Amino acid sequence: MKDLPFEVQLNNAVAALRHLLEVQKTQTPLLIRPAAVNRPLRQQVQKGAAAGRQAAAPVRQAVAPGPRPVQNEIQAFNLASLSLGDRWNNLDLGELEKEVAKCQACELAGTRTNTVFGEGKIKPKVMFIGEGPGGEEDKEGRPFVGPAGQLLDKMIGAMTLSRQECYIANVVKCRPPGNKTPDAAHMEACLPYLMAQIKRVQPEFIVLLGAVAAKAMFNRPDAVVGRLRAKVHQWHDIPLVVTYHPAALLREQGYKRPAWEDLKLVMARLNLGG
Ligand code: URA
Repeated sequence: MKDLPFEVQLNNAVAALRHLLEVQKTQTPLLIRPAAVNRPLRQQVQKGAAAGRQAAAPVRQAVAPGPRPVQNEIQAFNLASLSLGDRWNNLDLGELEKEVAKCQACELAGTRTNTVFGEGKIKPKVMFIGEGPGGEEDKEGRPFVGPAGQLLDKMIGAMTLSRQECYIANVVKCRPPGNKTPDAAHMEACLPYLMAQIKRVQPEFIVLLGAVAAKAMFNRPDAVVGRLRAKVHQWHDIPLVVTYHPAALLREQGYKRPAWEDLKLVMARLNLGG
């Protein structure tokens, strides 16, 4: 690079910057972009990345090292349908639940016993969002009724609330067989329901339980609880905290203290237990 004429160096720098800007454009979290931005994220990302590659192509050898491809964005979910306006505008929460019960949008429809829509109070202080139904939930059609649910009930109690005063839901409404983690296709198919649900439930505060809920709600496949917890985020004007999933707390004692710290953030904001 040192031996190149100044003009070439400048061109290289401009092309590299242009590439970076193109890639950055594709990084804007789609979730908080207006409904008008409805081109599927994958398409936008591929196009942006291709444009960036083109801009950088003539100078690739001279620019060292070139901007790295943004792997996470390229794998991002297609959350283009996640504006707060939804296609069930004329349906209330009960009708939305019936719609979910008929859903055939992904392969999980073929293996579920029941859909698990969610339950609780409208306009609750807290809406908890987990990953997806397990075996017990699939049998009963209700969220968090197995061992993780018993711990969640205790966590809610420690916050000086009761389960009935909260709303409890999951990212996916059908059980992945063998309690597998829902994949991107399951989440993409189910997320419009969750968005419509949140809009109707109107929680004062949202608590995301575990990485799957964080990945979905932040539209970040690389989201990890450790990096997002311990902080109050704003999500579509709703304060939101990310914490460990109760199933993780059952496996790993060490998560209990940080989880309690996270819940205390919620309590402080809501003036609970004081
Ligand atoms: N785990 C979840 O994420 N949700 C449930 O409903 C039950 C277990």
